[in-house]
Amino acid sequence: MAVTLEKDLICKDFLSKQPKKLLIGGKWVDAESGKTFETRNPATDEVLVKVAEGGKADIDKAVKAARKAFEEGPWRKMSAAERARLLFKLADLLEKNAEEFAQLETLDNGKPIKESRYVDLPQAIETFRYYAGWVTKLEGETLNVNSNFFNYTLREPVGVVGQIIPWNFPLLMAAWKLGPALACGNTLILKPAEQTPLTAIRLGELICEAGFPEGVVNIVTGFGPDSAGQALAEHMDVDKIAFTGEDKTGRKIVEYSGGNLKRVSLELGGKAPNIVFADADMDAAVKGAIMGIFFNQGQVCCAGSRLFLEKGIHDEFLTKLEERAKGLRQGPGLDEKTQIGPQVSKEQQERILNYVNIAKGEGAHLVCGGESPTGDLAKGYFVKPTIFKGVKNEMRIAQEEVFGPLLSVIPFTSMEEVAEQANKVNFGLSGAVWTNNIKKAHKFASHIKAGTIWVNCFNAFDPAVPFGGYKMSGYGRELGKHSIELYTQIKSVWVNLAD
Ligand code: NAI
Ligand code: MG
Repeated sequence: MAVTLEKDLICKDFLSKQPKKLLIGGKWVDAESGKTFETRNPATDEVLVKVAEGGKADIDKAVKAARKAFEEGPWRKMSAAERARLLFKLADLLEKNAEEFAQLETLDNGKPIKESRYVDLPQAIETFRYYAGWVTKLEGETLNVNSNFFNYTLREPVGVVGQIIPWNFPLLMAAWKLGPALACGNTLILKPAEQTPLTAIRLGELICEAGFPEGVVNIVTGFGPDSAGQALAEHMDVDKIAFTGEDKTGRKIVEYSGGNLKRVSLELGGKAPNIVFADADMDAAVKGAIMGIFFNQGQVCCAGSRLFLEKGIHDEFLTKLEERAKGLRQGPGLDEKTQIGPQVSKEQQERILNYVNIAKGEGAHLVCGGESPTGDLAKGYFVKPTIFKGVKNEMRIAQEEVFGPLLSVIPFTSMEEVAEQANKVNFGLSGAVWTNNIKKAHKFASHIKAGTIWVNCFNAFDPAVPFGGYKMSGYGRELGKHSIELYTQIKSVWVNLAD
């Protein structure tokens, strides 16, 4: 269906009721302080709604509710099959309301409606279904020990879990966090990003509708430092914290977690090498490079932000790349024709434009973009698709996460040279290699120090496949069976059989 006029929006009803509240112990409540904050439409800078600003007092309440639900509620006594049914029901409800969620996501985050509709929503739904399937398959083991004993292990939930998520894939990140935590029988407090709280709040409504017992899922909107995020990470009665966001924030989360030594998993930034050899299928690699950096306005932790081009194809590749980048239709996310929307916030827009200046100062050559569009789009947080050539791997734009539509093109002459440069970076979330030589492909897959490698593709994802970082991109793996490890702990039981 066409969603071009705001009056057509299915999500209008949801937006008309405000301020949005916190979900604590199965009830929608105002923040203890009574404070609210505004969330804006990045395409227009207009306020969408007011949202309750949760703080330390609200986190305390939410942790109490989650603890009660974990220790005393029906959740832990429920059969695995019943828990699975709740997760399947949630996925079904999300599917039923998918268009409303897609609109909300696009309004709050700015991303093209086609991406919300065909990427974020289906992937979030499938993530819940995937983990619903796991609930009935979790098991312990029996071990061969001295025959005077019987030993078995129990795989148990970690307990009360805090989850802090970013704004680039608001609903999908909530699904990656909630799916496995709930499948494993934990209770949780979700802290959505302050820029994009809306789909998490709407998801909270569906969680209540699905019939999850009260206090199993608590949603506290608010800010990070000295606010809800920090209080959650510091809380002495939270057993685990899962965080996705900036590396600097990740470091703080580790510090905060020290009080009770809660378990921590971190999914942080990236600076992925996207390596194109001269023998690659050039058109496919051009498309992959464009998608690798401009998808979601470049606000992707695994974005292919360092494009290494082999000398022999460098100029021709760059010409094709420039042509495609300039051809991307930029506009408001709700416009069906939009291929690249606004950045999430004014802060991010300014951050990217600042990196443009840094790049110029370092001697990189601007190929296209490097500024915000004028005219109708000037009121939103837009940045034109930007390409720099002649970038050196040591430059700041090749080393720091820009998190925007800014591509650094770095030429290379030999396998040895590119192999060394690809890993000369603090991050290690992902990498890609384009070549028709099977040996080269596998050699690079093994050589690149990163948690995900794509060969002749980019941004391939599936809930069954683990995702996470090497080096400063964090630790722990989300998705797949690996996420089950993050949200369970093993108990070993010894039984004396001796006469
Ligand atoms: P951020 O890491 O500050 O925010 C992410 C989440 O953490 C939000 O929910 C925020 O409220 C919370 N938070 C922030 N400070 C906190 C604290 N001290 N204690 C507890 N929670 C805290 O990221 P931000 O500032 O929105 O973006 C800055 C940069 O971070 C981006 O330009 C990008 O480079 C990177 N980033 C990476 C993401 C990824 O997926 N790896 C996602 C978002 C941002
Ligand atoms: Mg921050």
